[in-house]
Amino acid sequence: MTTPVLQARGLVKRYGHVTALDGADFDLMPGEVLAVIGDNGAGKTSLIKALTGAVVPDAGEIRLDGEPVRFRDPLDARRHGIETVYQDLAVAASLDIATNMFLGRELRKPGILGTVFRMLDKKRMREKSAEHMAELKIGLRSLTQPVESLSGGQRQGVAVARAVAWARHVVVMDEPTAALGVKESGQVLDLIRQVRDRGTPVVLISHNMPHVFELADRIHVQRLGRRVAELKPSDHSMAEVVAIMTGALQVSEGKAVVADEGAAKAIGLS
Ligand SMILES: Nc1ncnc2c1ncn2[C@@H]1O[C@H](COP(=O)(O)OP(=O)(O)O)[C@@H](O)[C@H]1O
Ligand SMILES: [Mg+2]
Repeated sequence: MTTPVLQARGLVKRYGHVTALDGADFDLMPGEVLAVIGDNGAGKTSLIKALTGAVVPDAGEIRLDGEPVRFRDPLDARRHGIETVYQDLAVAASLDIATNMFLGRELRKPGILGTVFRMLDKKRMREKSAEHMAELKIGLRSLTQPVESLSGGQRQGVAVARAVAWARHVVVMDEPTAALGVKESGQVLDLIRQVRDRGTPVVLISHNMPHVFELADRIHVQRLGRRVAELKPSDHSMAEVVAIMTGALQVSEGKAVVADEGAAKAIGLS
């Protein structure tokens, strides 16, 4: 049996009285694009935050390549090759693009200037950033532009480029196209394909069913803090998947069956 790249069992995360994760399981297989879908509040963001060190779960186990891990913070996860584009804190607005690309991985000047005086090698960071951006076919006029002068879509582009450029192991993106127009969304989807084509698995949280069906090898359905189904898009219609997401249908022995008669009728599935 293939060992999942990233795996979780029984994750629990409470915020006061709210249970965001209620025993959530998760499996990411080598080389796949895994879509994570679910209604607002289903615990998608909490799940990937727990998996990537942004929150510490109250209970449960996480494994990376089969080995138990406990990430202290997102930087710790990044050291293990897991890069995440978070829904809320994508980039540092006051810094320029090149500095953002190297956030937490700054290059120092060679010799004593770098080792003793900790001086940043801005020129080399700009050159390297330009290389990464070109490789990823992201066109930006100037890498010395502060990120706050960019449009929402371009900022998202920088966050995605950074994740894609550094990830050795896993890329996680929480609703990367939610704020983007059609053209920019298309570029992000292309980047995800590039990442998959070089063999790095991707976790894509998305509300956009056409995107999910276009890209995902498998779908993780999150509902009320738990994984309620793992599906292949080729086995189900979009309407069926949405019905599973809302609880009108449930998956039993690989088949979608009516779980909530009223809800299923209301959407014409029963
Ligand atoms: N920092 C927080 N403090 C309090 N409640 C939170 C926090 N983050 C998430 N929640 C709550 O946890 C639940 C799951 O949220 P979230 O993981 O963001 O879901 P999703 O990403 O699927 O919309 C929601 O009820 C949300 O309000
Ligand atoms: Mg979310």
